[in-house]
Amino acid sequence: MKLLILGATGPTGRHVVDLAVRSGDSVTAFVRNPATLGDLAERVTPVTGDATSQHDLTAAAVGHDAIVSALGRGSSVRADGLFTRASTAVTGAARKADVPRLVWLSSFGVGHTFGWSSSAQKLIYGTLLRSIYADKAIADESIRSSGLDWTVVYPTRLTNGPAKGTYRADDRLPMKGNPTISRADVAAFLHAAARGGEWIHRTAVISD
Ligand SMILES: NC(=O)c1ccc[n+]([C@@H]2O[C@H](COP(=O)([O-])OP(=O)(O)OC[C@H]3O[C@@H](n4cnc5c(N)ncnc54)[C@H](OP(=O)(O)O)[C@@H]3O)[C@@H](O)[C@H]2O)c1
Repeated sequence: MKLLILGATGPTGRHVVDLAVRSGDSVTAFVRNPATLGDLAERVTPVTGDATSQHDLTAAAVGHDAIVSALGRGSSVRADGLFTRASTAVTGAARKADVPRLVWLSSFGVGHTFGWSSSAQKLIYGTLLRSIYADKAIADESIRSSGLDWTVVYPTRLTNGPAKGTYRADDRLPMKGNPTISRADVAAFLHAAARGGEWIHRTAVISD
């Protein structure tokens, strides 16, 4: 399978790239600065661009079977419009380049899932993460109305622990406290979702 991976230099994106390459996929890593790919650079086709540019993304997306996004704002708590701008650019590029499948990483607590959050989660989502979550809510809706074969993925708090493979994934999960899931497990879900049809047109909540 030919995969275009956005956010390939981030901690979750790196896991997706690694898994995809090890599964025999042909991987294009869409990056702002190829130097930050490090040793992954030899195993992928790096394409330089900005994920808020439909022009850059269209050129990169031609000939791929699916796009997986692990875009994020790193340690910043300000969205700076990244998710709304990137969702518009990615959906436009996918349609133009005729790539039907899009797997988009969001966050649990965004949009309609806020109402399903525990009180501990609501406290964080409504304060520290407010800017990011407001931007993601608009972006996620534009993905869902894109006409593409989308999946929007809502993990709980991310850790850098190893993949356990024992996480739960469903359209809705009960929440207590502030549960976590490792980036390695999130990457495994993103990759599996891109390869299969089970999660098309669905929002996936994933957590340990
Ligand atoms: N932290 C949590 O507990 C948590 C919980 C649930 C969901 N999430 C979400 O999970 C996602 C991944 O988080 P993460 O911590 O693994 O990754 P991250 O550190 O946020 O990585 C961000 C990635 O996006 C890329 N990027 C940002 N702006 C870009 C642009 N304009 N054009 C191209 N690439 C761009 C970065 O590239 P550069 O290397 O060029 O900067 C980097 O590869 C985020 O959306 C985050 O909100 C996080």
